[in-house]
Amino acid sequence: MKINAMTTLYGIIGWPVSHSLSPLFQNGFIEHSGKNAAYVSFPVAPDQLQPALDGLWALGVAGFNVTVPHKEQVFALTHSDADARLIGAVNTVRRSDGGWQATNTDWQGFRSVVEGLELQLQGADVLLFGAGGTSRAVLHALASLQVGRLFICNRNPDRLAALIAHARQAYPAWSCEPLAWEQQAVDRVCATAPLLVNTTSVGLKADQQFPFALSGAGAAIDAVYRPDGHTAFALAARAAGRMAVDGLPMLISQGAAAFAWWHECAMPDCLISLRQIERELGRASCHLPGWGRE
Ligand code: ATR
Repeated sequence: MKINAMTTLYGIIGWPVSHSLSPLFQNGFIEHSGKNAAYVSFPVAPDQLQPALDGLWALGVAGFNVTVPHKEQVFALTHSDADARLIGAVNTVRRSDGGWQATNTDWQGFRSVVEGLELQLQGADVLLFGAGGTSRAVLHALASLQVGRLFICNRNPDRLAALIAHARQAYPAWSCEPLAWEQQAVDRVCATAPLLVNTTSVGLKADQQFPFALSGAGAAIDAVYRPDGHTAFALAARAAGRMAVDGLPMLISQGAAAFAWWHECAMPDCLISLRQIERELGRASCHLPGWGRE
């Protein structure tokens, strides 16, 4: 990659953002595509969001990703597409004649992991843990996959009720049921659900245990990422004999969808990126046969 006077700049805003893996794989996508571009991280404190958006605009930045804690605020400050409006948050922004244009590719990242695991979910039961921001993106992806019944389990019942109400309004043909935050209820749904998904933040910190034992057969996808891949949820799912991945494949895939949207091109190869990052982190390879042959 050669930076010169014609290089187009992309980046990620967040607070903190120094831990982000996005510059690593986004610059990999740039390199493979041969584009004259670069991708950097911008730490932006919450009270600096508007001046940061104005500054990125003034400096000619072509597009950027948005991470915690700015996803909802940037949604309110930009022109969003229909997917982002259903999710209520954005993670990808690009320059357009009418100002900053925004979308959400988190749901595409999740769907691509389902496809990578080659899970056939049409008509199947799914159990989703969590009712925060990430759950809305996962919900949007599951709706597009036409899964059967969705059971949602969250510690805070008010937040759970709000998510169920949103799901029933946004996807009226779909059966979305609240599930009690207790082991017996989790056991009952695990028995029939080939896919379990975690969108709670449990496991972001090391040494946290998932609050439930998991059971049943099939797969488990964690939105939480940890460098070694052994998140609390993935460990609980593997202990039950389920195939489990942490949030790394989803992270790379949402980035690939963002890259494709910025450059109006096909999705870059996520498998090459995934293997490169796994090597750099010194962790085991995720098995995602649907992402291609090696
Ligand atoms: P995000 O945008 O990553 O989804 P969020 O909107 O803050 O983050 O949501 C955090 C989710 O993790 C919520 O579902 C939260 O559950 P509550 O609604 O009960 O707070 C869940 N969560 C966080 N810490 C948790 C814990 N220790 N045990 C169980 N759930 C937890």
